[in-house]
Amino acid sequence: MSIIVNGLPSTLPQDPRVSLLDFLREYQHLPGTKKGCNQGACGACTVLVDGERILSCLALAVQYDGRQVTTIEGLGDDQGLHPLQQAFIDHDGFQCGYCTPGQICSAIGMAAEARRGVPSHVSADLTGAATLTREEVQERMSGNLCRCGAHNGIVDAIRETFTEDTGASETVA
Ligand code: FES
Ligand code: FES
Repeated sequence: MSIIVNGLPSTLPQDPRVSLLDFLREYQHLPGTKKGCNQGACGACTVLVDGERILSCLALAVQYDGRQVTTIEGLGDDQGLHPLQQAFIDHDGFQCGYCTPGQICSAIGMAAEARRGVPSHVSADLTGAATLTREEVQERMSGNLCRCGAHNGIVDAIRETFTEDTGASETVA
């Protein structure tokens, strides 16, 4: 059984009880993905699996045999940071920084959902790509908690990076 983590094949644990979060942190030595609540309430453990955002604390590693997992360590490259990572810096989108990897992975998955036309609770139009207004971003990112005060900077960074992709007409606040 194998799993692709940040483009590299890795052997899954024999023990089927190991969560994907523990597999990444303890077996793969990738500490970027954070363990906050470990029960699906904070979003700190969010990673991308085949481009979809998931909570790795609620997933078993063995479920992801043959799948592509991307963590915060896999987003930048030798040429530089992912544009959203740079936007977080530009907008002071992190203060404690503990939630940052989950926020960034979640936002990338969220933007793809909006492009595909997946509506949120606050979407007025249920057809076509969603416009990432401030309200939409706040709603769609509500599973990722920032408790220290960087929330507005996080929303600004996400909107600056993704509003053009989704056809938003609003300027970034
Ligand atoms: S650690 Fe997974 S949601 Fe909090
Ligand atoms: S930046 Fe992580 S809790 Fe605020």
